[in-house]
Amino acid sequence: MCGIVGVVGREDAAPRLLEGLRRLEYRGYDSAGIATLVDGQIERRRAEGKLVNLANVLAQQPLAGTIGIGHTRWATHGAPTERNAHPHGTARVSVVHNGIIENHAELRAELEAGGTAFETETDTETVAKLMDHHLAAGATPEQATSATLKRLHGAFGLAMVFAHHPRKMIAARRGSPLAVGFGEGEMFVGSDALALSPMTRRIAYMEEGDWAVIGDAGADFFDADDRPVERVVKLTAFTGASVGKGNYRHFMEKELHEHPIVLGDTLRQYIDPASRAAALPALPFDPATVPRLTMSACGSAYLAAQVGRYWIEQIARIPVDSDIASELRYREPVLPEGGAALFVSQSGETADTLAALRLLRSLGQKVLSIVNVDESSMARESDGAVLTVAGPEIGVASTKAFTAQLAVLACLALGFGRARGVLDGAEEARLTAALLEVPGHAAALLEDSTEVLELAREVVQARDVLFLGRGSLYPIALEGALKLKELSYIHAEGYAAGEMKHGPIALIDASVPVIALCPSGPLFEKTASNLQEAAARGGRIMAFTDAEGAPALRRFAERVVVLPTVDPFVAPILHAIPVQLLAYHVAILKGTDVDQPRNLAKAVTVE
Ligand code: F6R
Repeated sequence: MCGIVGVVGREDAAPRLLEGLRRLEYRGYDSAGIATLVDGQIERRRAEGKLVNLANVLAQQPLAGTIGIGHTRWATHGAPTERNAHPHGTARVSVVHNGIIENHAELRAELEAGGTAFETETDTETVAKLMDHHLAAGATPEQATSATLKRLHGAFGLAMVFAHHPRKMIAARRGSPLAVGFGEGEMFVGSDALALSPMTRRIAYMEEGDWAVIGDAGADFFDADDRPVERVVKLTAFTGASVGKGNYRHFMEKELHEHPIVLGDTLRQYIDPASRAAALPALPFDPATVPRLTMSACGSAYLAAQVGRYWIEQIARIPVDSDIASELRYREPVLPEGGAALFVSQSGETADTLAALRLLRSLGQKVLSIVNVDESSMARESDGAVLTVAGPEIGVASTKAFTAQLAVLACLALGFGRARGVLDGAEEARLTAALLEVPGHAAALLEDSTEVLELAREVVQARDVLFLGRGSLYPIALEGALKLKELSYIHAEGYAAGEMKHGPIALIDASVPVIALCPSGPLFEKTASNLQEAAARGGRIMAFTDAEGAPALRRFAERVVVLPTVDPFVAPILHAIPVQLLAYHVAILKGTDVDQPRNLAKAVTVE
């Protein structure tokens, strides 16, 4: 899983490739590299680690040339070294690749048997060597591409340049998204439209199996059977200016502070303020009659789906089955006739979620996606898509997109409840009013994070941390643990508060902070007694609650952070913000890289 960019331009390619890669670094940052054509010959620069290292290499050894390809890598095959960094190639061809060539070992053995020597452990090099094999035998770049693609198994996006072809680039897509950008007498390729936004907003998305021959005046597209095809050019919403940290130190900090505006924008989209009713877009299934919903996603998006499951079952009384996408796709689910599936994803490109989506669609389920990128693969491959209005999320850990997903799911639950006749107008108005107050509460909460910072000073000293919650706060406990792990590398687990006594209670001692999400509401007493069980065993309870819950918790908790009092329906949205903030502050105190935590990438486009 990596980011690809390509330029067939009229000015120096290297700075533009670097700028494109900067916008793709969210897809991986183990190494980076670029290749250009200088006097018809391929030249490249590569560096291990983050893009800044490649920028330093280029400052020392600049690269000329107006055509080139670039890559930022999230290592799958081969260690994240400079030797394994893309582009890979020979004197004739240079290749950047996103995805996995599943039959690379077989191809490598075949090529080695024919006398081809390999320099790296990467699967990508097999593509380069296969291309080279055909080119050396006299094939044109187009013929070599057609022959090579037919030998590759797996999911990939590719961009290639060729020695002595100063105005030609070839791109191919199978499984991994690729966008072709149209400029004025210049052309571009990128893993997404955001990468190309400084260069152009005119984009054609390649479709599954497509390959394209790109010159400076346009692109010729071919399908998997090499038949010429037309691909529509659209104007994307991204502008070159849309990615920046503003006055914040980190993207994550900026994105945390965007919670109020993103929640407001998303709720405005799906609630009619006049009628105080959920205003849903056209749906690919009828919520009044759908027999069951299957919900699926990965990581934080899955946790948002889990909260959505509580809401949809409680409010709309629709049976919901939910599963992690990487499990759903292989567990041979039993699906009801006329059923529907709901997938949640910020990027809309996560490989496991996309595969589960395709599977359920092929099994006859009507598919609705909640995505943040409207031109993403999931949006395009679903029967219907609902957008979160979170804007680009660059920090690798999801923050504002997560709460926006919750906002959309809350509106869907209300709309479904009304459609099924189980939610009356007055109750819907009460719940939408509670939702519409969330952005204001979120702003108040973010205005002063002193208490969360103090809590972070305790947590940063711990080796293990437990997060507990019940009901719709349970997935938020999981989210708190996930965020803390990924940003600060401190081991953390989330548990359903009632489950603690069935095992995790053995971990409780004074060295393990127990972070409780315990707002007032129907489950308050139950959660509070579970916390007391932990406190009685020497556990140090640090609780997030509201003014109503605080006095009871203060009797045994070491710290109580008081959040605004809200309707229990919206409490998960409001509690998600301080647990994300906590992980941010702990990471800052530990000095880890909050925007690009180790080993992670923003869009996980490999299985
Ligand atoms: C965690 C995080 C990841 C993503 C997951 C799914 O902070 O960001 O767990 O939520 O990789 O990504 P999307 O939502 O793009 O499908």
